[in-house]
Amino acid sequence: MGRILLCDDEVKLTRMLASALTTAGHSTERVATGREAIELCSREAFDILVTDLRLPDTDGLEVVRRVRQVCPETDVMVITAHATTETAVEAMRLGAYDYLVKPFSLDEFRMRIAKLLGRRELQARAGQLADQLSNLHNPENIVGSSARMREVLEQVRQVARTDATVLLLGESGTGKTLLARTIHYQSRRRSGPLCELHCAALPETLLESELFGHERGAFTGASEQRIGHVERSHRGTLFLDEIGEISPAIQAKLLRFLQDRQFFRVGSTQVRTVDVRFVLATNRDLQQAVRDRAFREDLFYRINVFPIHLPPLRERIEDVPALCAHILSRHRARLSEEAMELILRYSWPGNVRELENVLERAVILAGGTGEATILRRHLPAALTGAPTAPSPGSLLVPGFSIDGLERALIREALARASGNKSEAARLLGITRRRLYSRLKSMEADEASEQAEVSDRQDPGPSG
Ligand SMILES: Nc1ncnc2c1ncn2[C@@H]1O[C@H](COP(=O)(O)OP(=O)(O)OP(=O)(O)O)[C@@H](O)[C@H]1O
Ligand SMILES: [Mg+2]
Repeated sequence: MGRILLCDDEVKLTRMLASALTTAGHSTERVATGREAIELCSREAFDILVTDLRLPDTDGLEVVRRVRQVCPETDVMVITAHATTETAVEAMRLGAYDYLVKPFSLDEFRMRIAKLLGRRELQARAGQLADQLSNLHNPENIVGSSARMREVLEQVRQVARTDATVLLLGESGTGKTLLARTIHYQSRRRSGPLCELHCAALPETLLESELFGHERGAFTGASEQRIGHVERSHRGTLFLDEIGEISPAIQAKLLRFLQDRQFFRVGSTQVRTVDVRFVLATNRDLQQAVRDRAFREDLFYRINVFPIHLPPLRERIEDVPALCAHILSRHRARLSEEAMELILRYSWPGNVRELENVLERAVILAGGTGEATILRRHLPAALTGAPTAPSPGSLLVPGFSIDGLERALIREALARASGNKSEAARLLGITRRRLYSRLKSMEADEASEQAEVSDRQDPGPSG
């Protein structure tokens, strides 16, 4: 139900319109002059002002202009005589939503009002949703109190206000997609579209048509015309994920588009222009890709306008407790001290996404009803086993030997355990007896090495 202000010096007409609206369940007010309409609108909230363009005191166009200015949330519908449709067009230009040409039927009037109210409702809903999304993507709600994340979030806040192209760099799962969305919802384009395209997932021809669209019959299988992402994100933001993976041909087309925002749909010779803000992301080292000639240098400079580096989680371990709290706040679960310790010790190659997955799995395992506590046994082996075990491949470098590694491990364990052999054995995951036996053979090896050295008359360093 709407609240509608009717303004016309023909009192008989406004009375009729008012009664038609009241029957339909709306509430109305009536005034006879432009001055009264402007005054009442600025004092009270109306959904719609219906005003004649010919008024005794003011020009109806002036009423439209003022009302749109003073209370932009009120929509204006103008009534005009046949002879003045030109003025009606001018009224629309000034911000009126619709116009009715006299004479019109009450049915038509009611229908137009209903349509406008329906549109207002949708708009209000869309506004609420956009607010919710914008809230969800508020930098305040992104976890990161480490110095590096604070810097990243500050950069996001600053660049979001501009139209600059942003390049998000970081390992998988560090939050690139989250920040791309944040940038859009914090920008003045937030009520415009946000289109996301995953460039690595598509073969070249498909990617080109996803980006720029195609005309019917442009290639085999193109049975319908298709609007591409660049057109769909007009007045909004286009987020291109995995930009490091695109082929040379697409790189060339993208470069041209980035230079002047002009493009062709596949199979069309008509050049088109759009207003789009770019956010791009990759987990690839683009500079290296340029050196390897896999990525065009000119395109790299085009997109490297405002790079933001997302640090891997292992380089901001201090954010982990807050991230855990953030993730677990969606569940009725808490972490045991031991579980937290293991989580802090792990290197998180999959970054925040891996942390989310681990915790969500643990919540299920800890399951049960009521408040769950996540224990060591609810965590995957990667965390509870040797926490920072390097991959075997990375160990097999020149100079490597199993014996050498074992000796290094034993020394490290003894150092960490301050010489306490039981504790060192526990750290190594072996029995005390086995440790003693290893230490003994280590001593023996070292002694014989020393003997060899002195045999060769070479004093060398000892120890
Ligand atoms: N700082 C953060 N605070 C809260 N949640 C975060 C943060 N960073 C990442 N996340 C969450 O972690 C998950 C992974 O983040 P996201 O998808 O943005 O990573 P990505 O860098 O885009 O990964 P990929 O390279 O695989 O696309 C998401 O669920 C995201 O909401
Ligand atoms: Mg992503």
